[in-house]
Amino acid sequence: MPSAVPEPNTGTGQEENRYSGQMSEFRLETARLALRDWHEADRAPFAAINADPTVMEFFPKALSAAESDALIDVFQAELDENGHCPWAVEELSTGAFIGFVGLHAVPAQLPFAPGTEVGWRLARSYWGRGYATEAAVAAVQFGFGSLGVDVVLSFTSAVNLSSRRVMERLGMSHDEADDFDHPNIAEGHPLRAHVLYRLPRGDRPG
Ligand SMILES: CC(C)(COP(=O)(O)OP(=O)(O)OC[C@H]1O[C@@H](n2cnc3c(N)ncnc32)[C@H](O)[C@@H]1OP(=O)(O)O)[C@@H](O)C(=O)NCCC(=O)NCCS
Repeated sequence: MPSAVPEPNTGTGQEENRYSGQMSEFRLETARLALRDWHEADRAPFAAINADPTVMEFFPKALSAAESDALIDVFQAELDENGHCPWAVEELSTGAFIGFVGLHAVPAQLPFAPGTEVGWRLARSYWGRGYATEAAVAAVQFGFGSLGVDVVLSFTSAVNLSSRRVMERLGMSHDEADDFDHPNIAEGHPLRAHVLYRLPRGDRPG
């Protein structure tokens, strides 16, 4: 679990966010959002997000409730073991759970593993408010400042333009030489072609 508090004057802007970490609780706040550990009450709204065909347009398939629950368990275990995960995101003004944003270990089968990726998935009704980018800036700053990550990666299907726009708003750069075919997606599938974006420490996100 994370034990460090944000270091002041890191030049990452992390001091703009409030972070409190202890054995069973993670919380990182931005102006409008909290990135936090996962709660039992998140299971139903997260299953609804993962079952929404529009949210899951750029994934091979939507998830069942059991698959959605299993993902929460993987994320919470990653947080417990490594001090980061795709965190649950809560809207501060309402307390509503709205999806996840956070840092995940790049799966070993990908050509650029090992590494740390930043990723996001929000309920459709919370798109178009700048929430994904706001939470991702905080996640990336946490990665650089508290985890000592040297470069944050992000990848998605080439056709997932909404997600690529978040990467670009974060200041990440894309090199066509890094483009790759996702090994878990069948040849000829429209989602197989993937793009990789990078943000080195020192490049201020956002
Ligand atoms: C990818 C995803 C998170 C992007 O969400 P998003 O809301 O479009 O992204 P942001 O949070 O950066 O919001 C930016 C939008 O909010 C608008 N906005 C409104 N108020 C804003 C504010 N106060 N501050 C910033 N932006 C604001 C921006 O103009 C922008 O709109 P535009 O894209 O029409 O130009 C969302 O589409 C999603 O969850 N998709 C499904 C899951 C997925 O594909 N994940 C990625 C897999 S790799």
